[in-house]
Formats: sequence, C-alpha cells, structure tokens
Amino acid sequence: MPDIDTVIRDARVMTCDPARAGLGMIDHGAIAIANGAIAWVGEAADAPPARRTIELGGRLLTPGLVDCHTHAIFAGDRANEFAMRAAGAGYLEIAAAGGGIAATLMPTRAASDDELIELLEGRLDLVLGHGTTTIEIKSGYDLTVEGELRLLRCVARSAQTRGGPRIVPTLLAHLVPPERTGDRDAFVRELCDQLVPAVAREGLATSVDVYCDEGAFTLAETRAILGAAKQRGLAVRGHVGQFRDLGAADLLAELGALSGDHLEQVTDAGIAAMARAGIVAVMLPGACIQLRLPVPPIDKLRAAGVAMAVASDLNPGSSYCEALPIQLWLAATHYGMTVDEAWLGVTRHAAKALGLAGVGTLTVGAPADLVAWRCEDPATVPYRYGASTSLIDEVYFAGEPAPPR
Ligand code: NIG
Ligand code: FE
Repeated sequence: MPDIDTVIRDARVMTCDPARAGLGMIDHGAIAIANGAIAWVGEAADAPPARRTIELGGRLLTPGLVDCHTHAIFAGDRANEFAMRAAGAGYLEIAAAGGGIAATLMPTRAASDDELIELLEGRLDLVLGHGTTTIEIKSGYDLTVEGELRLLRCVARSAQTRGGPRIVPTLLAHLVPPERTGDRDAFVRELCDQLVPAVAREGLATSVDVYCDEGAFTLAETRAILGAAKQRGLAVRGHVGQFRDLGAADLLAELGALSGDHLEQVTDAGIAAMARAGIVAVMLPGACIQLRLPVPPIDKLRAAGVAMAVASDLNPGSSYCEALPIQLWLAATHYGMTVDEAWLGVTRHAAKALGLAGVGTLTVGAPADLVAWRCEDPATVPYRYGASTSLIDEVYFAGEPAPPR
C-alpha cells in the first residue's frame, strides 16, 4: 500500500461498489487516501495508519455526486418563460413569444469568453457546494460551427484552472438554429464534416449528443451526426423521446451509445434495445416536472434491467438547477425510484453514463471525491431536500477539502 495521506474513519461508508449489494454500505467503515485516490476501503477497526485521521462519528460518507447531463454553459436566463408556464402557457405560446432554446442563442452568442466563463464558474461553485464533484457539460447554445467550438474551449479553460468539479465536455447538436431552417441539410453536413472533426481533433469533447425529437433533429439526421462522431472515435449519447420517441433509443443501441436521456415517451422496443446494449437511462425529473411531462416508464426500465442515472439537466429553460440532491428527491418521490436506485443514479450509474470507470464509487483506485454528510441514513438526503447544503459537512475533491467559494 502507498503512504497514506488521510484516513476517514468511523463512517457509514456508501461504497457503491458493484461487487457489493445495493449501495455497498459499510456501517463502521473507513477509507484511506493516497495521492488524491482511494487506496483502501474496509472496516474502521482495520484502517491503516495515516498522516491525518478524520473521525466522522458514525455519519454518512458517500462518493462525490456525479451530474451526468447538464447544459451549464450559456448566458441570459428565461425566468419570463417560467412565469408564463406557471400561468398556464404551453410550449407553442412560449415559442411564439420568442422563447425556447432559440431565446438563449442570442445572449450566449453576444457574451464574451470571459463573461461565459464567469457565468459558468458561478454555477460550478454552487454545483460543488451541493456535493457534485463530477459534472458533464454540453455545448449547444450557439449552434454555429465556430460558436460551438468557442463554447467547448471556454469549458476547457475553466476545467484547466479550477480545483473541481471534474468536467466532462460533450458536443451537443441541440437544434437547427432559426437562421438555418431553410437549409437544414447543409447545416447537418457542416456538423458532420466540420464541427465533429474539429472537436475530435482539438480533443474538446469526449462524446457527442444529439437532441432527437419533434422540433429538433430527425432520426436520419441523428444517425448522420452520431455516425460522424463514431468515425472520429468519440462516444455517443442522445436526448430521446422527451416529447416523442422517433426511434432514437434503437439507434443508440445499434451504435453502442453510453446513454439515452429524458425518455418520457420511450417505447417498449426502445427499452428492450437499451437493455440489450447496456445503455444507461438518464432520468431528468426536474425538467420533466417543469414541462409537465409524463413520468418515464420506470417500472419497465427496472424490469428490463436498464441501469438508471439521475441528473439535473441544468439549463436556462426547463431546469435551472445546480442542486443534484433536489433531483435525488424528485427521483424518489415523483419518479418512484427507490432510495438506493436514486443514489446509484447520482453516483455509479451516472459515471457509467459518462464512460468513467471507478468514479461515483468508493473503491480502490477511484479518485478520492467524497461527501461527508451530517446525517447517517442515505434516505435523509432526499428526505430533507431543502437542507442539502447544511446537511453537507465537507466536500472532498481529489482527497482534499474543496475550498469554500
Ligand atoms: O434537456 N431537451 C432539450 N434541451 C434541454 C432544454 C433546453 C432549453 O430549454 O434551453 C433539455 O431539457
Ligand atoms: Fe438536456
């Protein structure tokens, strides 16, 4: 064993270790940390000596949370749409009033790099404060080749200069922008022939996501874009069946995607295909509720053995939420997931949706990204959904307490 920097002991350790049942709880547990990674996990009585020992007094220690689906880089907000929706306005009325994804394009395109990064980092400070130590960030609010590259370069700049959260960048083909609806075939070709290759060349994202739905990209367009991504060695995933399942789940299965996300309207055939291909189903309950959509078929996904993740969908339209514990609550209440399923959804299964091994677990070799809670029972976190920041005692990033921001 390497020289141990820190031992955290007398903890209820939620390992999320796939080799253990359920959440892999060790009631009187400990973990040892060396060089920012977990070097040992076991019973507190067996813990190795260390330079620094932290006693948790029997309280809960979990992996740092993993938010595997966000659109966190954008400028402007759409509080007006929230108010319109609350007053009963529907999608079309809001779009007619200039709302929707297109409404975020203008302020995002107009913002400087520094402004975008400052806005992003303000959100990341909140994200980390709510216990999230790994976050996926999609581009998708510029929708020009150069503009999407710029968004991903801003994300990369932020990732290089911050001490957490860990950032996983994704290129998102979000929409055909209003100025290109007349030549959408040419736009899709630009994505395939210019944007995707440039992203791969510069290493600006590890995967490509397409919003395949009514009003966004068709199944054929999705196939073309994700095909280009696979050709360049990028992983693929998709927004599937938020409003209508166009067959994207089957396509994702065929392509060996990491995840299918949203899934309010996913078909039985789509679920079977996802199960066969081992694709993670990413649940976004905050967006589902805010858009007043039906709950995805959780029972069918569970019965098919599809791993479920839970994410914030952090975006200016349907879910302006940096707090993953609130999604944990919505998953366990509105979506009818068990507490164990919801917790695996923001830890191990979320990391699987990002193609990250070890992350989201407290197992040997995983990064020492942790949350020490002021409660003992995993259920307390979603149960006391309004108190998550005061339930957090400390967030550790790569073995060190994350600095307060
Ligand atoms: O994941 N579904 C598509 N995109 C976002 C919404 C983005 C927006 O409204 O700005 C989502 O919910
Ligand atoms: Fe989304």
